[in-house]
This record gives sequence, C-alpha cells and structure tokens, in this order.
Amino acid sequence: MIPPGTKIREGRTDIIVPEDHSSHGPGTIKGTVFFNEQMAFNRDVSVMLLRAVGRDMTVADAMAATGSRSVRIANEVPGTQVTANDISADAVSYINANIELNGLANCVSSNMNMHSLFAEHAYDYVDLDPFGSPVPFVQSAIRGCRRKGILAVTATDTAPLAGAHAVKCRRRYQSEPVRGYMCHEGGLRILMCSIARELAKFDRGMKPMLSFYADHYFRTYIRIEEGAEAADRALQKLGYMQYDMDTLARSVSYDKDREHPYGPFWLGPLHDGEFLSRMDPSGLAEEKRASKYLGLWRGEIDTEVFVYDMSELSSHLKMSPPKIDDFMVFLNEHGHAAKSHVCPSSFKTDIALEDLLPLYREFSPDSRPAQSI
Ligand SMILES: C[S@@+](CC[C@H](N)C(=O)[O-])C[C@H]1O[C@@H](n2cnc3c(N)ncnc32)[C@H](O)[C@@H]1O
Repeated sequence: MIPPGTKIREGRTDIIVPEDHSSHGPGTIKGTVFFNEQMAFNRDVSVMLLRAVGRDMTVADAMAATGSRSVRIANEVPGTQVTANDISADAVSYINANIELNGLANCVSSNMNMHSLFAEHAYDYVDLDPFGSPVPFVQSAIRGCRRKGILAVTATDTAPLAGAHAVKCRRRYQSEPVRGYMCHEGGLRILMCSIARELAKFDRGMKPMLSFYADHYFRTYIRIEEGAEAADRALQKLGYMQYDMDTLARSVSYDKDREHPYGPFWLGPLHDGEFLSRMDPSGLAEEKRASKYLGLWRGEIDTEVFVYDMSELSSHLKMSPPKIDDFMVFLNEHGHAAKSHVCPSSFKTDIALEDLLPLYREFSPDSRPAQSI
C-alpha cells in the first residue's frame, strides 16, 4: 500500500515523503516518519563518495526512515546492493514504496532494530544517521562493517560536541569540548576520537576519507583498517588542545599524563586527499553546493588542527577585517594558508601566531589607504 505523502525529486531519484516534513534546521519528527529536505546535501555527499569508491559494494542504511538515502544510493551509485533498515514499521512502508517507485532490483527493505541486524549481517558500507548522538549505536555499526569496510556517521548533537552542553559531552564522549571559534572543528574531532576508541576495542583502526561540519551536524566517513597495530596507530593520533581565547595561543599535546584543558580529540587528518580528488558532484541534487564544499575540502590544510577566524583576529587586534580571499593570497606569499570549510570566515595556516598577527595588522583595511577606483 502506498503511504500518504508527496513525491519529490532529489538528484536523479523520486522519493515519496510524508506531506508534513522538515525543510530546514536539525529537523523534527512531524508525523510518524522523519524526513528533512535540508539533508539532501548530506545524502548527496554519500552518493558522491560511494561513486568515487568505484567498486561493487553491499550497503546498509541502518536508520533509513523513508529510505531516501538508500534509494538514492541504489539508483545513483552503480554496483551497489542496498539494505534499507528501520526499526519503525511505518518507515518501512515508505521504504517499500520508494523501492517500487524507482523500480530498484538492488534495494531491499528490513524492519529490524539495527543492533540485531548487525549482530547477524555485515556490509561493505554502513551508514549511521540517528536522531542526535550516534554514541549508543556506533559499537553495533562497527560490528556491521565487513573487513576494511567504510563507516559513515552523522551526529546532530551539536550543542554537546561544540561545548554548549559540556557536561553532556563529557558524559557521552568522555572528552572536554572547546568553545569559541574552535568549537566546530573541536566537535568534529571529538566525534572522530570516540569512533577511534570504539574501533580499538575490536582491534581495528581508521583512516578518515572525508569529515565535515555543515548546517547543524557533524559527519565523518572512515575506512576501517584491520589489526591491533592499526588500532594502536589510530589511538596514537588522539591528543589534547591548549587554546587561550585571550591571547589566541594554541598548541596540541599527546602527553596523557599532563593536565589538559580540552580533549581528547582526533588529531589526525580529516580527509584522504587522494580520494577527494576522485569525487565528482555532477548530477547531484545540490550540485553547486557540493562542488563548493568539495573545493574547500580539497584545498584545506589538513595537517593543521587549529582554525583561525577573521572575526577572532579582528576583535583581538581591534582592527577591521580584510576580505578573506584577498588575505589568503597575501598569506600565501609568506607561508601556506587556505580557507576552512567549518565557517566562511575561517582558515588554516602553517604561519605561527607571532608572525600571523603582524601580517593581519598590515593587511587590515585600517592600515592601508583606500584604493582609488
Ligand atoms: C534521523 S532519522 C534517519 C533519517 C534518514 N537517514 C534520512 O536521510 O532521511 C532516524 C531513524 O532511525 C530510526 N531508528 C531509531 N532507533 C533505531 C534502531 N535501534 N534501529 C533501527 N532504526 C532506528 C528511526 O525510526 C528513524 O526513522
């Protein structure tokens, strides 16, 4: 039976979704089954990433709701065999309708608790997209990943991870979050740290393929590496931050015996640069946005953990901000600098703070005479 709803088109796929659904923000359940239009970009990235993997894969969408991500992957990524799972029977009626609507022979529905699904079955790619924190589900999702599989995790509990609810972050993630301009980079790295710790319990390590903050959520795609040595290598990439919001001084430490204000965080790379070079946004629902983000991810200086923000430097020096694109060109005459994806006014650089501050002062419009037109 076709469930009540409305038909939308996302990417190259038709999807029946509940008439009353979220269209922006973190999204709330409006009827019995959840759908958020704004997450089209999140689903686009899954399609783009799996297309770049370029080999036949079994896929489990552990919490599929309407099955929007599952049917997009099955329809838009050649060589995939998709299981669209949700604990809710109402959700499964949408999933079945969407499989039928797109005539997909490579997608099946499943109505199980994901913990039971992954106790019995394993897949090359597992997608975890829960309401709020993924923490209660990560261990089962890891079990559900085949050897050297890919695990994709969304976290929409931005307030704890970004330090607005520090107590909750300590409880859920056992990390001390960082506030201020580092809060989103910090939140993403706390999520990744908690996944690395969970993987290590299974003698498994991780190599991030792509990790980002967008809209109201964090998302990471990691390739699982097998063996105790891989787990130890990943654990060695966990460490701490010092970040003084008054002086802007910042540093990292791997010394577990010292007292640290913030962390632990994943201090390894967020992305796999070679893999990103193979990703192509053609034909996605939000092709322009995906292309813009892809450019930022590819250009980002992934060896640096800390972001600077133009507003942070401006208020610290009490000087007006220059245009960020012009400032990046100027900084690259003195070192290496590139915009960061976490915020349009943020960037990373290998230039030390004591050299960066005079450069900002020199380049601020307050220090330069107005250009005649
Ligand atoms: C945020 S929604 C998923 C949205 C979906 N991935 C999309 O892109 O539209 C979370 C879903 O998880 C399902 N869920 C919650 N707990 C579950 C469990 N233990 N096993 C399987 N599904 C679960 C809910 O029924 C809900 O449909």
